[in-house]
Amino acid sequence: MPLAGIPGAVEGELRAFLERRRGDVGKIGAPVAEAAGRIRDFVLGGGKRIRPLYGWAGFVGAGGLDTAGEDPRAVLRAVSSLEFIQACALIHDDIIDASDTRRGNPTVHRAVESAHRDRDLRGDAATFGRNVAILAGDLALVWAEDMWRDSGLSAASLDRAQGAWRGMRTEVIGGQILDISLEASGDESIELADKVNRYKTAAYTIERPLHLGAAIAGADTSTIEAFRGYGRDIGIAFQLRDDILGVFGDSAVTGKPAGDDLREGKRTVLLSLALSALDERDPSSAAELRAGVGAVTGAQEVARLAEIIRSSGAVEGVEKRIEALTTSGLAHLEEAGLRGAVADTLRELAITSTARRA
Ligand code: IPE
Ligand code: IPE
Ligand code: MG
Ligand code: MG
Repeated sequence: MPLAGIPGAVEGELRAFLERRRGDVGKIGAPVAEAAGRIRDFVLGGGKRIRPLYGWAGFVGAGGLDTAGEDPRAVLRAVSSLEFIQACALIHDDIIDASDTRRGNPTVHRAVESAHRDRDLRGDAATFGRNVAILAGDLALVWAEDMWRDSGLSAASLDRAQGAWRGMRTEVIGGQILDISLEASGDESIELADKVNRYKTAAYTIERPLHLGAAIAGADTSTIEAFRGYGRDIGIAFQLRDDILGVFGDSAVTGKPAGDDLREGKRTVLLSLALSALDERDPSSAAELRAGVGAVTGAQEVARLAEIIRSSGAVEGVEKRIEALTTSGLAHLEEAGLRGAVADTLRELAITSTARRA
C-alpha cells in the first residue's frame, strides 16, 4: 500500500476496533459508553497519524513485506494502536497544560465539563470534567495495549517488538514527568529541555514507531539502530517545530491555541535560547520574559511575550537546530545503506515532520 493511503487505512482500523468495544462498555453502563464515545470522537476526529505512518514505514523499510511473513493488515492494526497511545498522551497532556482546544475542538476535559454544566449535575463541573478525562485517557492506554496484542501479529513478531513497545510507553510518560518538573523548577538549561523533547516526543512519535515496524520485519541490529538514530533527531526537531508553533502558530491550522505554552510556562529550547540571548543584549526584556512565562493570562500579555521572544533571535536559533537535526537524522539513513523508495519516503517524512504548519 502506498504511504499516502496509510492514514485512511489507519482510520478504518481504529473505527473497526472502536465498534468492537461498543458492547463491552455498554454493558457496564451508559456513562461508560459516553466516555468511550468521547474517546471515539477524539480518535476519529483528527490527527496527522504520524506515528502509525512511521511504524508502517519502519516495517516496509526493513523489507517486512518480503521477509516477515506477516499479514500486512495485522501490521497495520498493530501500528494503528499507536493512535490510542497518542489519545491517552494528549487527553492527559491537555489536563496537565490546562488547554481548552485540541484538533480544533474543545479538549476532552472541557467537553465533559460543559456537558456537566448543561445537564445541571451535582458537584463541581470542572472537577468532573477532569476526572472523566483522566479515566478516558487510562481507557485509551488500555485499548492501545489490546489493539496491539490482538492485532493478529504472530507471537514471534510481538516478542521481537516487545522491547520497543515496553520502552516507548515508559519513555513518553517519563518525558512528561520531566517536562512538568522543569516547569516547576523554572530551569533554563537547554540540555534538559532537549532531554524532555527526546523522551516526551521523539521516542513515541518517531524513534519507537520505526523501531516497532523494523522489529516486526525482523530487521538486524544495525538497521534498527540507524532507524532509531533518525527517529531521535527528526523527533526532537518535530518537537522544536511544535514549540515554535506553540508561540507563533496559526491556531486555525494547528487546532490548538498559540500562547498556551507561554501561559503554562513550558520550558522550551526556544525559551532557553531567548533568555540567554536577552541576558546579554537586553536584560530588561529578559526580566519581563522570565517574570511573564507561566504567569501571563491575557491575550495581550501573551502577544507581548511572543514579541520579546521574536526580538531575541531565538526563532532563528531553533530553526538552525531543526536544520542540523534534519541533516544528522538523514545521515543515519545513509549509515543504514537504505536506498530506494523507502529511503525517499523517510527523507520526505523528515521534511514534512519538521517543516510542518500543523
Ligand atoms: C502532538 O502530536 C503532541 C506532540 C508530541 C507535539 P501531533 O502533532 O502528532 O498531534 P496529532 O496527533 O497530529 O493531533
Ligand atoms: C507533547 O506535549 C507530548 C505529549 C503529549 C506526550 P506538549 O504539551 O508539548 O504538546 P502540545 O503542544 O500540547 O501538543
Ligand atoms: Mg500540551
Ligand atoms: Mg505538555
